[in-house]
Amino acid sequence: MLQDLIYASVDNPSNAVEWAMAEMINEPELLRKAVEEIDRVVGKDRLVQESDFPKLNYVKACAREAFRMHPIAPFNLPHVSNADTTVAGYFIPKGSHVLLMRTGLGRNPNVWDEPLKFKPERHLNGSTEVELTESELRFISFSTGRRGCVGVPLGSAMTTMLLARLLQGFNWTVPHGESRIDLSEATHDLFLAKALHAHASPRLPAHMYPKN
Ligand code: HEM
Repeated sequence: MLQDLIYASVDNPSNAVEWAMAEMINEPELLRKAVEEIDRVVGKDRLVQESDFPKLNYVKACAREAFRMHPIAPFNLPHVSNADTTVAGYFIPKGSHVLLMRTGLGRNPNVWDEPLKFKPERHLNGSTEVELTESELRFISFSTGRRGCVGVPLGSAMTTMLLARLLQGFNWTVPHGESRIDLSEATHDLFLAKALHAHASPRLPAHMYPKN
């Protein structure tokens, strides 16, 4: 049980944030918008807190876009249907093993405009607060329904905090001598094929960083 909780709460946020950072470093305008939001909402004299999350909609849209495009695994956990049912015209008999394909949903061109492009703006809806859940299953982050993730508040908070603090604390660029971050996917799962390697420099006043 404990191992499951640790995998759920470490692997999922770190995979989403690593992908979001990789995509954003390649698109400095997205990075600039997210940092501008953090500076406006939080400033540079204190670190992002959970109480800031309702106002960090652009940052959350970036995390949400990472969940859409880069799920941690190609399929959702298997389910077995406990009654005959029909979904979108397809008859699914009781006892069927049901596997939802995460990339099939999140990258579906019938649902998403330019599905292979990292566009956080697609998740912004006026003044509505952005959430990392997707109850209509247009992609799978925490899934939904009775067997959906029980750790939504913690998982959302860990993902948003990790991304927001990395963006707040450092200027991020492609390492010297390289032109872009390599966005290839691993073949046995959907992690970045090569772990993110980027250049970070401090962007907050010196007293904001812990001293040894
Ligand atoms: C960003 C972080 C997380 C993501 C993206 C995530 C995603 C998911 C997904 C997709 C499922 C499968 C739902 C289904 O079968 O339809 C799931 C199940 C589950 N998650 Fe999470 N999770 C996260 C964090 C957490 C955390 C922090 C906890 C606990 C502290 C947790 C506990 C669980 C448990 C116990 C289940 C099984 C629920 C059931 O079968 O009834 N998850 N999660």
